[in-house]
Amino acid sequence: MCGIVGYIGKQQAAPVILDGLSKLEYRGYDSAGMAIYDGEKIQTTKAVGRLKVLENITRGGSTLPGTLGIGHTRWATHGAPSDANSHPHTNTSRTIAVVHNGIIENYIPLKNKMQERGYVFTSETDTEVVAHMLDYYYQGNPLEAIRKVLHRVEGSYALGIMFAEHPDTIFSVRKDSPLIVGQSQDGAFIASDVPAILKYTRNVYYVQNMEIAQLKADEIKFFTVDEEEIHKEMVTVDWDAEAAEKGGYEHFMLKEIYEQPKTINDTISPRIKDNDIVIEELGMTDEEIKALRRIHIVACGSAYHTGMTAKYVIEKMVRIPVEVDVASEFRYRDPILEEDSMVIVISQSGETADTLAALRESKARGFKVLGIVNVVGSSIAREADNIIYTWAGPEISVATTKAYSCQLVALYMLSMKFAKIRGTIDEEQFQSLLGDLRRLPDQIERLLGQKGKIQKFANRYVGAKDIFFIGRGLDYAISLEGSLKLKEISYVHSEAYAAGELKHGTISLIEDGTLVVALATQPHLYQKTISNIVEVKARGAFVMALTGEDNKAIEKASDYVVYLPETSPYFANSLAIIPLQLFAYYVAVGKGCDVDKPRNLAKSVTVE
Ligand code: AGP
Repeated sequence: MCGIVGYIGKQQAAPVILDGLSKLEYRGYDSAGMAIYDGEKIQTTKAVGRLKVLENITRGGSTLPGTLGIGHTRWATHGAPSDANSHPHTNTSRTIAVVHNGIIENYIPLKNKMQERGYVFTSETDTEVVAHMLDYYYQGNPLEAIRKVLHRVEGSYALGIMFAEHPDTIFSVRKDSPLIVGQSQDGAFIASDVPAILKYTRNVYYVQNMEIAQLKADEIKFFTVDEEEIHKEMVTVDWDAEAAEKGGYEHFMLKEIYEQPKTINDTISPRIKDNDIVIEELGMTDEEIKALRRIHIVACGSAYHTGMTAKYVIEKMVRIPVEVDVASEFRYRDPILEEDSMVIVISQSGETADTLAALRESKARGFKVLGIVNVVGSSIAREADNIIYTWAGPEISVATTKAYSCQLVALYMLSMKFAKIRGTIDEEQFQSLLGDLRRLPDQIERLLGQKGKIQKFANRYVGAKDIFFIGRGLDYAISLEGSLKLKEISYVHSEAYAAGELKHGTISLIEDGTLVVALATQPHLYQKTISNIVEVKARGAFVMALTGEDNKAIEKASDYVVYLPETSPYFANSLAIIPLQLFAYYVAVGKGCDVDKPRNLAKSVTVE
């Protein structure tokens, strides 16, 4: 996510802002910038790269004198990392400057309208449209201009705004992106998160959605979007800096598990327009989609597991054969790629060497490659022919959770779009799926509420030596991910198995008390999976079952059942993964493992 810091007070603003931005580096970013009022005009300096680059260019901020300013670290969502795309963004006359964290979902029509009004854009970002709209609506009253803009933009935002004609004030407003306001004896601050200002003050206000903050050096006021002043309670923060970076969570992994409802919504909602799925960046015509005869999905690790989920979903929904490969195999097996095939590569980091090599191999053979990537401007994002971004924000923990979940919903949307165009689902089925898709964030929120129950169960398996995950079809695909999550952060050996395959050898490993996690989310396979549960129970296994709320029959066969909210069977993996992530997390925590940085692992495997 992007980071915002603003300051107005007795001190020079630039050094305060640089210091604050450095405390937000953990949020992940690819460029940075500042805008400072120097007594006459707004001066802006922006630079792609680490914060150090901005610090060096501005000589620690000394080239930007002034006591009022806003700063930003950018995590690219629209427009690759570049100086021009870095924030702050200004209106043409540079009398208004804006920094933004979030996604303006309707920025394209807004941008078109501003261009029709003669505004010239200098960046590819969604944010720049806010600067020009403020210019258009500003008639001397900043609050009125801000109100008019807020009534027209859709999406998520935390905005820091300064007007050259009001050099004693910073304005700020949020919707769905975090924003705090701080007060010290030296001035007032805005920030995306507490760590940015802890050095200066622990007295903060947590800004709520659609509240506008007006900061002067010695006075802070809050208003509704209807310009009515509101009173807010100041809070004293008692977190230390490190805890604050994790938003109060013990580990980034848990924070990112809990971010999944928001990040899934961020990935879905900009692509649902008028009850249809619109994937502008897909770059495929209906004719190309209809002509498709095979899909190859290539990825590594958890990304490969989303490919396995996609195989079952696409083949059932779209009726196109899907081959899924781990990239390290694909690139060396001299794959057979037939005409009218497409290759999809999936990667959170966009830098995984094997996946990048598979992309290059496919392109070298003349095939178009679609990338599903989380990092804007990454190698895979740059080299793929078309891209679907998962707007999960930066993922700090080595074990992927929110990016994995966003990859799933991106693949569901792709499948639904293909199925609708190819006519393998009708409008009624499409709308029913769309309803289920929209309900996922709230259902995941509900499942996260079972954290305590899962933690209690996980504590019983801190000493486990072998844990098996079994399932059929989509349940096998999610078993793969559940097993990997456990292995990579808790170092407990685990294996995922197609439930019907267990009896062909591996069942010999089941002993008294062996934990078997049985996935049974597919109604048409309930009975078959219950038979497999009975098989392993007969060998002494302890069975934890994850199943739909309608599958009460499984209780008799299992020792411990976690029920999942009702959704389309196509989307069940998105719900089943939540208890599995929590289970892996709490086993690892119980063992005292370094959850965010597991031994031997890197967040991005950029070597073969
Ligand atoms: C997942 O928890 C692991 N960290 C790992 O398997 C990861 O999914 C794999 O290395 C692929 O990374 P990518 O998505 O960045 O390409």
